Amino acid sequence: MSSPQVTRRRAFRRTDNYTPGRPRLELVWEALALPLAPTAVLIKVHAVALNYRDANIANGGNPWPVIPNVILGNDAAGEVLAVGHKVKTLAVGDRAGPITDTENISGREVKRSWLAADEDGVMADHIIFDENALCKLPDHLDWVVAAIIPCAGVTAWSALKGMVIGQTVLIQGTGGVSVFALKLARAAGLRVILTSSSDEKLEQMKVKYSNPSIMTINYSQMPGWDKEVLKLTNGIGVDIVVETGGSSSLVKSMRCTRRGGVVSQVGYLSRPDPNDLRELIPTIIDRRINLRRDR
Ligand SMILES: NC(=O)c1ccc[n+]([C@@H]2O[C@H](COP(=O)([O-])OP(=O)(O)OC[C@H]3O[C@@H](n4cnc5c(N)ncnc54)[C@H](OP(=O)(O)O)[C@@H]3O)[C@@H](O)[C@H]2O)c1
Repeated sequence: MSSPQVTRRRAFRRTDNYTPGRPRLELVWEALALPLAPTAVLIKVHAVALNYRDANIANGGNPWPVIPNVILGNDAAGEVLAVGHKVKTLAVGDRAGPITDTENISGREVKRSWLAADEDGVMADHIIFDENALCKLPDHLDWVVAAIIPCAGVTAWSALKGMVIGQTVLIQGTGGVSVFALKLARAAGLRVILTSSSDEKLEQMKVKYSNPSIMTINYSQMPGWDKEVLKLTNGIGVDIVVETGGSSSLVKSMRCTRRGGVVSQVGYLSRPDPNDLRELIPTIIDRRINLRRDR
């Protein structure tokens, strides 16, 4: 086992105080869990990426349980400083970051554990994870860019899994997952319909991604955006939707997906309203929709 020089860390832990104006996080100094367990890896964090989920958890809005005062954050990139004596897949100096869903390695695990909710997250200068929960990060990306891959990047990639050149994807919003999905979709030769609540953002995206051009819809100005998607696809519908809206948009997303197409449910940005889902089952059956959440 390599022995680390560092024994303590700085970390941002949730205060769990939701009083308006009070800090949601506090910076703490704490001892690292040393010596390392046989399959544990100590990482010096170089960059973390912030996602919608982090703000949601900090503000007490996570739809799943969270343990008290947990360290926030679930997207990070860092350098391996030390490894336990049984670690086989990583070595000192490697670039790595933890996966978010640490009990979902084979898909057959019975336990569930998400970073920053069921266990400590990554907003710290040093983190320790089992090697099973870590992935190597590419050498050619700088730390900041690499930090977006483990959660937002993998989410976007898995949302698009199985799509092939020439197919059409509807991507909702211009947030982290959506822009990552947009880049992957274009690299894979998919046609993109992008929605946003802001004309300005849509204009910026059209300029940035001009060749081949993307189609855009302002979903806040056009409540019937699903009909517009159908118009843009000759009435057929898209092959896949990267669904970030959740209950308010899911049925509409299905209505503008082609028969037998895929809706990849990645987000839950809208306020849940059971009325929005009344047409869910008839729409799934009518459109032969594959509703999924891959990872
Ligand atoms: N980031 C991750 O790693 C990750 C992983 C798994 C799941 N998710 C989930 O995926 C969703 C998006 O996450 P994110 O981190 O990409 O968020 P984000 O960066 O905060 O982006 C959110 C964007 O989504 C758009 N939006 C907001 N409300 C919407 C609605 N009702 N319908 C359609 N679009 C809406 C807005 O885009 P405009 O301003 O352009 O309108 C907003 O800027 C969240 O529910 C999150 O929990 C995220």
